[in-house]
Amino acid sequence: MHEPERGAHGSAHAKTILLGEHAVVYGRPAIAFPVRSLTLTAHARAVDGPLRLSTPYHHGSIAAVDDGTAPREEHLAEAALRHTLDALGVAHDGVDVTVTGRIPAARGLGSSAAVASAISVAVARLHGIDLTYEARFELVQFVERIAHGSPSGLDAHATMSPGPIRFESGVARPLVDTWLPPLVIADTGVAGHTAAAVASVRALRTTDKRGVDAAFDAIAALVEGAHTDLRTGDATALGARMNACHSILSDLGVSSPELDTLVDAAHTGGALGAKLTGGGQGGCVIALAPTPADVPALARALTEAGARGVWPVNGGEEEAA
Ligand code: MEV
Repeated sequence: MHEPERGAHGSAHAKTILLGEHAVVYGRPAIAFPVRSLTLTAHARAVDGPLRLSTPYHHGSIAAVDDGTAPREEHLAEAALRHTLDALGVAHDGVDVTVTGRIPAARGLGSSAAVASAISVAVARLHGIDLTYEARFELVQFVERIAHGSPSGLDAHATMSPGPIRFESGVARPLVDTWLPPLVIADTGVAGHTAAAVASVRALRTTDKRGVDAAFDAIAALVEGAHTDLRTGDATALGARMNACHSILSDLGVSSPELDTLVDAAHTGGALGAKLTGGGQGGCVIALAPTPADVPALARALTEAGARGVWPVNGGEEEAA
């Protein structure tokens, strides 16, 4: 006779930064939205035998992950699993974790934070513990430090929060009663490495502190303005702020030809505004459709311009599915 199988699961979604990336690392505000159409679920089971981990990027034992051939995302998943077991004070065996669903990795969509978040919740629940929000945040930040070096905490909060947030100096607040702008995320298909992008901005700041801090202040002013636009539902003003932000981020060196191509395609396709989202130097753009009904046409225009994936946010999910 064997023990009945015990299992638990945890989920997390992708995020998109509306405005504020990079400047947020230096204490300026940022606004981010959940991307519910991109969700990961981790299933944890108690088993006899060694630790096992299967994700969309890898299947098998942790030993196989350790052999140095697994993709980076897999190592982050393993780090989340091992760190959660350490935090719970339990042995590193007898658990099988399977992650299903997919958030494209290295695209500025918070995949590393979401993987860590889903795994930590599932593994803790398997041990009878419902993590507090703070405990979950700390586990995710541990993995984010491996992934990014000095994460602001925005990605961890944004992948855990059910709705839009405003984040500033380590504090995340839900944006309540806000207009939800119809956005389309479009993937260049080119990996963007947040750690490298953040390091390049830091290097620029060592040579031109005044100029880079002025750019951060200008981004902060755009975030403040956008916060008002979200209260009043002013799509035209928000689109203009997104365009202005993209040009500041370009000046900071974190855009790329592929991102600029998709931003241009978004404008041609009727977007009120478009910008890169996340760390940049690859990854994704977000574009603002005039109305939810315009989302499918905008998504089509971005696909025709070469986007490898498009995901609607805040409306149009059904139309674009
Ligand atoms: C990455 O999604 C956002 C950045 O601002 C880095 C961070 O906030 O840690 C580029």
